[in-house]
Amino acid sequence: MPDSVRVAILGATGAVGAELIQLLEERNFEVADLKLLASPRSAGSTLNFRGEALPVEAVDDNSFEDIDIVLASAGGSTSKAWLPKAVAAGAVAIDNSSAFRMAPNVPLIVPEINPEAAATHQGIIANPNCTTILMGVAIYPLHQVQPIQRVVVATYQSASGAGARAMEEVKVQSRAILDGKEPEANIFPYPLAFNLFPHNTPINEQGYCEEEMKMLNETRKIFDAPDLRVSATCIRVPVLRAHSESVNLEFESPFAVEKAREILSAAPGVKLVEDWQANYFPMPLEATGRDEVLVGRIRQDLSHPCGLELWLSGDQIRKGAALNAVQIAELLVKKNLLNASKTVVSA
Ligand code: A2P
Repeated sequence: MPDSVRVAILGATGAVGAELIQLLEERNFEVADLKLLASPRSAGSTLNFRGEALPVEAVDDNSFEDIDIVLASAGGSTSKAWLPKAVAAGAVAIDNSSAFRMAPNVPLIVPEINPEAAATHQGIIANPNCTTILMGVAIYPLHQVQPIQRVVVATYQSASGAGARAMEEVKVQSRAILDGKEPEANIFPYPLAFNLFPHNTPINEQGYCEEEMKMLNETRKIFDAPDLRVSATCIRVPVLRAHSESVNLEFESPFAVEKAREILSAAPGVKLVEDWQANYFPMPLEATGRDEVLVGRIRQDLSHPCGLELWLSGDQIRKGAALNAVQIAELLVKKNLLNASKTVVSA
């Protein structure tokens, strides 16, 4: 294991890239050398790390020489094009895109849930979908006590999931509307400011969009629960960077609300936020910039004796993406897993 780690960030100029840089600094990750990679559009610009302006380079065939860990957040096609090359050059890649998530030889990891899966990596480790990570952190502690049979979830997803330009678009649209002008939509298919719409990923024959299917398939893989039933409805809302979710859980037998509350108040990565008198529960503005998933409104489902309801908010860019990836990198260093045998996987 290297004494300190040579890191490359692929997608350094994006919303998640910026957070990755900040987290490496904030968490004192033992970075020996940081390489910032993006598209040719960004070559020549600089970004700050530990008080130093580092150049952003266009990714190319030589980018991954002498790199131990690649943190990638530049979209699926960029990951597919570059990560096998990074692995062939000797790096371990932690990928934020969906390109490799369901590949059987790629572990899909939320460190609070399945850190042991890291030991099986063959060069690429996938960071799950953001809504899936946030829900998983909140419900896995209950699943460990009594296996969840079925999840019905509705999401309220922020603009940040579609990147930095989408966040900017919502601000510009909001300003336009307040000025009495027509809002323009370029990144999203419709104006998001003062609006909401179902997640704009392709819809399958059963009527579920890709984001909703990710919540089903990825939760099954992370929990190692191939029979878990999940039905999701994913909605984009005009919030900048924290997702919220309304989650209904069905167990085989009743799960006492008090017990759920006790478990979640001690669960890793979770902060219980509940003041029933004040009607104060998790909110995306309060989740913004925080590491924990805020969970509250835990209550008995009136429609089912074995059901529980809960509500959560979590920072989509942090725990939903960059923080989870950095935690995986920390796990690799701690468990001495940077030199595991590597095979180049295809998506
Ligand atoms: P660039 O800024 O040069 O376009 P976000 O998710 O916030 O939109 O960010 C996407 C990130 O992925 C940016 O850093 C972007 O770089 C990078 N990116 C997009 N396409 C490519 C590509 N073809 N090669 C390398 N990086 C890319």
